[in-house]
Amino acid sequence: MRLLVTGAAGFIGSNFVRLALEKDSAAEICVLDALTYAGHISTIQDLIESGRIQFVEGRIQDHTTVDRVVREHRTTHIVNFAAETHNDRSLLESGGFIASNVLGVQVLLEATKKHGLERFVHVSTDEVYGSISEGEFSESSPLEPNTPYSASKAGGDLMVRAYVKAFRSPSVVTRGGNTYGPYQFPEKLIPFFITRLIDSKKVPVYGEGNQVREWMHASDHAAGVWTALLRGTDGEVYNVGDDNERRNREVVAILLDELGRDDSFVRFIPDPRKGAHDQRYSMTTSKLRSLGWSPSVPFEAGLRETIRWYRDNESWWRPIVDRPDYQEFIRAFYGPSLGEDL
Ligand code: TYD
Repeated sequence: MRLLVTGAAGFIGSNFVRLALEKDSAAEICVLDALTYAGHISTIQDLIESGRIQFVEGRIQDHTTVDRVVREHRTTHIVNFAAETHNDRSLLESGGFIASNVLGVQVLLEATKKHGLERFVHVSTDEVYGSISEGEFSESSPLEPNTPYSASKAGGDLMVRAYVKAFRSPSVVTRGGNTYGPYQFPEKLIPFFITRLIDSKKVPVYGEGNQVREWMHASDHAAGVWTALLRGTDGEVYNVGDDNERRNREVVAILLDELGRDDSFVRFIPDPRKGAHDQRYSMTTSKLRSLGWSPSVPFEAGLRETIRWYRDNESWWRPIVDRPDYQEFIRAFYGPSLGEDL
């Protein structure tokens, strides 16, 4: 297999590349990544230096680059992790989300078609379904996204659907739940809070912290995408999630406990997502499980291991949180009114 993995200098993509190298040592892997604010070459530097992967810097929405990389690498399969992923950033500025998450997917679909590739896996999110108060979403639930981010991901998913219908594109879509683990950019709930608590800073919980998310370890997510790549059926969508629903305040309580901090480190703030804040995500995953996949990392153990990883790898995240653009986002989103410690 000659595999092009896009966005693999990021969180789930880099976990996926490590898993792919483990599962198929003969795979010829090329990574295409734009190294935007959330992508770091240091995340995969060891793999590049050891010659286990090839690396090209570029954007998926740039069709000249994609075309050249697919041709020169002689790609047979593409897995697309490249995306703008943070809901909060999409509330500040959503243009870049459309470029990566909609146009970028169309460019990859076009390359799949033009070069006669065997498979395109598009990695998406359960957030395209919107919020569900009771029960679970299945792959056939309607798409009702509530933020510019989730709407852009739904746009990419629908582009895949259209290429399957119009051109019999050999494509599948995976829709993952909330994911945590090593190398996650410290703007999402878990790494944001871990890094702040390590630094003895307060953490901002939106509203009363009663929203429910289904958390899954990155290695389980990566294994789900690997299963869809190898065993999925063209044109199908596969939910990837662990049946592990937690209220945000419950996750925060575990983080405080593990990091030896008390409740005085929590600041409940007026919900900055307002009407766009999905109350609960939950989905059935029996379709992917029927292909032989199941998640294996228990949440508490995975979270403890993740905290240890951030403690041991300060050299990875410290330069990020010290960056002026990172601090500017925190100020722009959370606002100066929250005080010096935010
Ligand atoms: P996040 O990690 O951004 O993922 P998503 O929006 O894709 O679910 O947020 C997870 C939950 O945590 C969500 O309900 C919003 C909440 N949250 C906070 O309460 N405070 C924060 O600073 C962040 C980033 C998220």
